[in-house]
Amino acid sequence: MGKRLSVVDLQKYKLKGRKIAALTAYDFYEAKIIDSTPVDMILIGDSLGMVFQGKASTIPVTVEQIIYHTRIVVESTQNPVIVADMPFGSFQISTEKAVENAFRIVKETGCNAVKLEGGEKIVPIVEQLVYSGIPVYGHLGLTPQSINKFGSYKLRAKHDEEAETLKKDALLLEKAGISGLFLEKIPAELAKEVTQSLRIPTIGIGAGVNCDGQVLVLTDMLGFDSEINFRFVRKYADLNGIIKKAVEDYYNDVCSGQFPSEEESY
Ligand code: KIV
Repeated sequence: MGKRLSVVDLQKYKLKGRKIAALTAYDFYEAKIIDSTPVDMILIGDSLGMVFQGKASTIPVTVEQIIYHTRIVVESTQNPVIVADMPFGSFQISTEKAVENAFRIVKETGCNAVKLEGGEKIVPIVEQLVYSGIPVYGHLGLTPQSINKFGSYKLRAKHDEEAETLKKDALLLEKAGISGLFLEKIPAELAKEVTQSLRIPTIGIGAGVNCDGQVLVLTDMLGFDSEINFRFVRKYADLNGIIKKAVEDYYNDVCSGQFPSEEESY
């Protein structure tokens, strides 16, 4: 295993036509396993609130929690680019507050970049972060931090007006200096158009195959929750079933006196 990839390496992938594979991770084992594969990027997303803390949305996630989990992931890996989400309320108050929080996240964790949800309105913040030497990823389309504004996690930018705004926002964010752009739950044709219009890579989730890369929430693609069946999540494993069976087998062995055996005793 070599030196950690940088956001610049991932930008070069786009020129070479090589896809970017990204996953989320929140703890030591998740990070360590991903690090042993060629996956290019780990995102410590604020999906942390939903898939790690079991909350109804990403809104309650704090800067302290992002710092705690990002530091674990950085310390457990050597290879992928590490991107930390700036949670709800950590960058919207003012550019000064945003820069202060981003400095904390980068200095206290060692991550490579931060990610911010939003379009034109966050351009001055992005410019200041980039000027300060902090690589930034944008996030357009379904932006879960705005759940209270939109009222649902449905497909975004289905209609012309929202699609036009998204295309404009993508170009403005690129001009402001973002290193890449996450596109969540938008029509595949729109994601293709945006991807072709940008020099920086796009990373899609529910945005079709023509993005420069893809990201999934690790616990979703591993099938931790049998009730989660999003169209855009391909389940590569059924860990819910595997873990449940292992726990039940253990329970039965304990209750029937079959665990521990003589070999498992001293
Ligand atoms: O928080 C997260 O996991 C994300 C991805 C869905 C892109 O932002």
